[in-house]
Amino acid sequence: METERKTKTAAEQMTDRDLSEQIKMVTKESHVRAENTELMLSYQRGQVTLAQYKLLLCSLYEIYQALEEELDRNCDHPAVAPIYFPAELARLEPIEKDLEHFYGQDWRERIVIPAATKRYSHRLRQIGKENPEFLVAHAYTRYLGDLSGGQVLGRITQKSLGLKNGEGLSFFSFPGVSSPNLFKQLYRSRMNSIELTEEERNSVLEEAVRAFEFNIQVFDDLQKMLNVTQTESEMQSRTAQSKLTNGDSTLAKTLQIPSSMISAAPLLRMVVGLFVALATVSMGIYAF
Ligand code: HEM
Repeated sequence: METERKTKTAAEQMTDRDLSEQIKMVTKESHVRAENTELMLSYQRGQVTLAQYKLLLCSLYEIYQALEEELDRNCDHPAVAPIYFPAELARLEPIEKDLEHFYGQDWRERIVIPAATKRYSHRLRQIGKENPEFLVAHAYTRYLGDLSGGQVLGRITQKSLGLKNGEGLSFFSFPGVSSPNLFKQLYRSRMNSIELTEEERNSVLEEAVRAFEFNIQVFDDLQKMLNVTQTESEMQSRTAQSKLTNGDSTLAKTLQIPSSMISAAPLLRMVVGLFVALATVSMGIYAF
């Protein structure tokens, strides 16, 4: 009975809480899972590669294009207006600048979008049309993340890739936000001012967990793509090597190795092996 009363009080307190507090609480576990994806672990080890960062930028382009187009279209919606800060937060242009830096002027034809990223942007466009109040969950997940751990990720990217003068790092830079901490406070208070029914609020909280899940899948998918590419190039170099030892004449010609050396290699190995075995046996007899 006492336990039941305590549980009820906790639940009541929970519904009384601010949206910003509730959203942080319900996504706490998802945040830990996001931090533990292979991509984010590379970041935490300070070992991000150029291939990882370039592919991440491609996905971020697809995600922010959908998110910001839907926020713009719904900027007068009562659940979107309070958290609509294009001048301070918009990421699409900085990402385009970074993509041009890494891929060149024809970056639009060269970028690669993993399937999980397509699913994420599809969801953003769907809720923009059907449930604009859910956009707050996605805007929170991306923008507050970028202003929190994202700032550390920027410094790691700069150091591990040796980027100079902020080139290729525009995504992490928020010139319209002088203090990320103060801005996050303002953002949270704006989130708390949004009027939602109990049902809408619960759905927004569910959507925030889903938003983290989309991000996790994007990171996993792009890491899988990188691992496949790496395995492929390792296999290619192994095939080239085995062709060489099997006496592939074209490769031998390219590397200017006399073909007699290649065909004589097994015989040579046998002679050397016999010599080593004999030397070992005689040393053993000597020591005895
Ligand atoms: C290496 C990976 C990450 C690290 C080290 C990290 C670290 C942090 C830290 C220290 C905070 C707290 C800042 C504060 O209280 O002011 C934070 C907040 C946050 N992070 Fe991350 N994070 C990482 C990845 C992510 C990812 C992948 C996402 C989402 C896609 C994310 C979303 C958020 C959000 C939304 C907040 C704001 C929480 C709130 O105050 O309500 N983080 N992160």
